[in-house]
Amino acid sequence: MTESAAALAPTATQTAPYTMTDKMKDIVSLCKRRGFVFPASEIYGGINGFWDFGPLGVELKNNVRDLWWKAMVKCPPIGPDGEPVTILGLDSAIIQNPRVWEASGHVGGFADPMTDCRESKKRYRVDHVSVYTTNAAPDACWIAVPSGDDEQDVFKKRLKKLGSKLSADQYTAVGLDKIAVADYGRIIAPDASKPGTLTEPRAFNLLMETSLGAVADADSKAYLRGETAQGIFINFTNVVDSCRGRVPFGIAQIGKAFRNEVNPRNFIFRVREFEQMEMEFFCHPNDAKMWFDFWVGQRKIWWQSLGLSDENQQFHEYPADELIFYSKRLVDVEYRFPFSHPGYGELESIAYRTNYDLIQHQKFSGQKMEYFDPVTNERYIPHVIEPAAGLTRAVLAVLCEAYTVDPSRPSGMYMNFKPIVAPVKAAILPLTAKGDHPVIATKLYMELREKYAVDLDIKQNIGKRYARQDEIGTPYCFTIDDQTVTDGTVTVRHRNTMAQERIALSQIAAFLEVGLKG
Ligand code: GAP
Repeated sequence: MTESAAALAPTATQTAPYTMTDKMKDIVSLCKRRGFVFPASEIYGGINGFWDFGPLGVELKNNVRDLWWKAMVKCPPIGPDGEPVTILGLDSAIIQNPRVWEASGHVGGFADPMTDCRESKKRYRVDHVSVYTTNAAPDACWIAVPSGDDEQDVFKKRLKKLGSKLSADQYTAVGLDKIAVADYGRIIAPDASKPGTLTEPRAFNLLMETSLGAVADADSKAYLRGETAQGIFINFTNVVDSCRGRVPFGIAQIGKAFRNEVNPRNFIFRVREFEQMEMEFFCHPNDAKMWFDFWVGQRKIWWQSLGLSDENQQFHEYPADELIFYSKRLVDVEYRFPFSHPGYGELESIAYRTNYDLIQHQKFSGQKMEYFDPVTNERYIPHVIEPAAGLTRAVLAVLCEAYTVDPSRPSGMYMNFKPIVAPVKAAILPLTAKGDHPVIATKLYMELREKYAVDLDIKQNIGKRYARQDEIGTPYCFTIDDQTVTDGTVTVRHRNTMAQERIALSQIAAFLEVGLKG
């Protein structure tokens, strides 16, 4: 391996075992090096929770986005009755009347970071909890109690009840807000029996504020949307009236959403600006169960179509007692990311939201949200099934799934993108930069570029160019050499196997037609 190739190779080539942490580090570094994702505002030291998509990242993201739009709006699935379901598209404004967010419940009393206890189901304001910490024994738990005048007494009682071998004066009280999330595993929550049940804090008022117009005062306050879904609910009657929407039907939207996450982390997994792909499917209450099951099945097919393997994916249904009051069912689509391994992280939530959102908007706006069924003469507020997916997280899952360590090649790895998501479908590589090779290569490039995202790469030695295409996950490389000049054939190099074969220049379009399907 050449020195420069060794520098490109992932940490897998080192002797220590290759861990999931190594893999995640390698993915982040590849994304920067090859133009998938850059830290936002990097030259100013960055900004926590924001990322920029580079030239290849935006192509990858657009490919995933277009596949979702096709599967939802352009060519929606065949419904249980054997007919294609109807889904109409929408692109609503990011900033809406602030009342929208009051109706949706996003503007509430919760403006502080909160943590939930998974065991007791109690919720605590992080700055209202004291934690009695100790390092007197490495395995001693830290004891959390509600802050207040009597907290010392409460702590001592808890200490006794938990049967600690340490005495109270071996502990020091610290506010929960001063404790790193990484140490939460040591804390026993106030009403829990074992440590590690507190979730990481979330600011419940996640909405990002902005102000409209020249003067920033209470009347000018507005919010960047916290989800794309509300733009759909508030346009329900517009779509029904203008486009003859007949229940059951869906409205789909893709766009940016903003959340003031307390702890942005894991690269582009939890960020403050991200993209969602949400569809609200409006149906009769009696049919909601059937449509819920239908959409869970459809979403499974779609996620598989991106190339995510079954072993890295799971569908997790929440038990009834963990659902929010208006929700009747909730299934999360989850992916086993390197940072969550062996656990999973959420990609999409599929929720049966009853008619809660439409009722809320009817109440807050005073406008009727009813649907009149001309066939049955029934008037009702439809129920909603909501598959709500994250585009940003989908891109991360695709990147993680594609990253394949292969010490046998100069790059040490390749991105095993399915051709339908690959940002570059084929590279055209003249063996030399002078003479006939670049002339033939340029002609081929001009023929293919209208139909396919192709890359014409003329400089550097051929090994380095193959290595670069492996790193960006290009399925095929066509090399133009002396034999091309004499017999009109090129070498095709297959990314995953590195196998090479010769085909005629005239066959390339047909070759790609077949090879890029799927
Ligand atoms: N309308 C329902 C809704 O927004 P959600 O589970 O809060 O539901 C849907 O969000 C999806 O949006 C999530 O499954 C996730 O993929 C994505 N998402 C949510 N918060 C995110 C964040 N801070 N960063 C990146 N993606 C996020």
